[in-house]
Amino acid sequence: MTRTAVVTGGGTGIGKAVAAELVKQGADVVITGRRTDLLTATAAEIGARAVAFDAADPAQVQAALATLPSRVDVLVNNAGGNQARRRPAPEGLADVRDLWLANFESNVLSAVLVTTALEPRLADDARVVTIGSIAARRGSGSYGAAKAAIEAWTADLAFALGGRGITVNVVSPGVTEETEFFGGTLSEERRKKLVGNPANGRTGTPADVASAVTFLTSPEAGHITGQVIGVNGGAGLGR
Ligand SMILES: NC(=O)c1ccc[n+]([C@@H]2O[C@H](COP(=O)([O-])OP(=O)(O)OC[C@H]3O[C@@H](n4cnc5c(N)ncnc54)[C@H](OP(=O)(O)O)[C@@H]3O)[C@@H](O)[C@H]2O)c1
Repeated sequence: MTRTAVVTGGGTGIGKAVAAELVKQGADVVITGRRTDLLTATAAEIGARAVAFDAADPAQVQAALATLPSRVDVLVNNAGGNQARRRPAPEGLADVRDLWLANFESNVLSAVLVTTALEPRLADDARVVTIGSIAARRGSGSYGAAKAAIEAWTADLAFALGGRGITVNVVSPGVTEETEFFGGTLSEERRKKLVGNPANGRTGTPADVASAVTFLTSPEAGHITGQVIGVNGGAGLGR
């Protein structure tokens, strides 16, 4: 039977690479995101189907269920990003609160709402992967804290769904270029500062992250669950 996959934030960067790889492996793939035109263009390019909605808005997630697959074998919660990069530095407590809530909504609620909505449609032996970040263990304020929350939620969900053979994991990238995350191309100076001192001396690509995600979403990865897998060239050591 053809496997069905939903990749949130699949219009760009890491999500696009994951979706393209799943298509190559023969899955029926739905990509989601808020920008309809961009999503439609990406879907046509990689051979997926586009469903546009805001993953952090409960009403939009609920409404999207009508056009999402009735059985889901693979769910990749990839939508998110650091909201601090998209606004001026907070000037008072109200700004601080807004930024923390924005990062929580963008990175935690987007994954929790989509997964909760699709949970009744997850096939036995389904695979759920959420994209975390090296920031969860390193800092980065409200963004890192939100990505850390993803790890705790994933551990819980792995136990809740494990009896049905469903695995739930986090793939945690380090600095990954060729995405919209940094809002443009990195200067050499900025790249050096961001990349720190990884064992392999380079930043990551969406393809690096996609290969870890597609391994974890494969039928063969059925005994790996509740884990956080770093894809960071050794910039953060997990052991
Ligand atoms: N690039 C890195 O260095 C890096 C490192 C660690 C972790 N990550 C994580 O990797 C994931 C993918 O990011 P990326 O690097 O590939 O950057 P990206 O190119 O900005 O991709 C993020 C995607 O998520 C979508 N999105 C964001 N919020 C959404 C929402 N509320 N509802 C629906 N879609 C939403 C965006 O599309 P729309 O704007 O059209 O909605 C976009 O396509 C994110 O979770 C990010 O935090 C990235």
